[in-house]
Amino acid sequence: MATAKAHTNIALIKYWGKKDQELIIPQTDSLSLTLNEFYTTTTVNFDSHLTSDLVAIDQHILSKKEAQKVVHVLDIVRQLSGIKSFARVDSINYVPTAAGLASSASAFAALAGAASTAAGLKLSNRDLSRLARRGSGSATRSIYGGLVEWQKGTDDNSSFAQPILENVDFPIEMLAVLVNTKKKKVSSRSGMQSSVETSPYYDAWRQVVANDMVAIKKAIKAKDIDQIGHIAEENALRMHALTFSADPGFTYFNGETLTIIKAVEDLRNQGVNCYYTMDAGPNVKVIYDRGNRSKIVEKLSNIVGSERLVVSQPGPGIKIWNE
Ligand code: DP6
Repeated sequence: MATAKAHTNIALIKYWGKKDQELIIPQTDSLSLTLNEFYTTTTVNFDSHLTSDLVAIDQHILSKKEAQKVVHVLDIVRQLSGIKSFARVDSINYVPTAAGLASSASAFAALAGAASTAAGLKLSNRDLSRLARRGSGSATRSIYGGLVEWQKGTDDNSSFAQPILENVDFPIEMLAVLVNTKKKKVSSRSGMQSSVETSPYYDAWRQVVANDMVAIKKAIKAKDIDQIGHIAEENALRMHALTFSADPGFTYFNGETLTIIKAVEDLRNQGVNCYYTMDAGPNVKVIYDRGNRSKIVEKLSNIVGSERLVVSQPGPGIKIWNE
């Protein structure tokens, strides 16, 4: 039996498309910031008395279909370790509000850590990252803290994350703006697949990411938060252009997303530097130097209410312990 705690991450250079669906090998590299405020703790217990895997998230037991991706990772762990038993998995997502920022990134990173340790495997961080990748691509990066790069690689062995700067020593901060959503969203898995298959801009996206990876690493070295934010914002817009240009086209934005984008642009025009990024949902994440926090929080609270804002510092890498 083992427990792991992993933090979620938000991509500054997005992963949006797979080369290999089964092994989750991405089309491009990506780069993220691990966040302090959002994390998952997961306990895994291999138990010879169980007759099937039993998976609970936030104390709710998942159906067979809902548990599919978790069981897939458990199967890989059983294969690696030779363990035959089924497992009980208990996972709790720690998010400050219920507004749906829970991410598969922290969940599958914590699962990889807890399941492999419970099975007696002592995986290196690199191998943990490869195992987390089999559950969800973005989880590859949640093994490490701070600024993290996922090198796309070409196969299971060569596709893993590595830290760029684990202890971020400059005052970058991220504010999550939790946007209300009623509509059922297109999963990132199917959204990125249809972008790869149908967007005429997909080839250009590969080049965008290659250029952005070089530029953002330079900006990180220079501790240039404005440059990091600017590159991340452009990259996010270009990722979302792939959804608009897919066939059929779709978007994760809603009206509130655009309102917040506009507010960030207004702040910038008033001399308060800040930048936005969005993932496979309507929430907006704002990147800025913490010296600007109060002005940004003030403006955005007037729009959405302070209870929907969560400020987060860079967060740590995975922790695993035996029970
Ligand atoms: C927009 O990691 O959720 O957040 O690998 O199919 O599980 P799967 O997809 P997932 O996609 C994340 C997409 C993103 C960008 C990113 O995190 O890099």
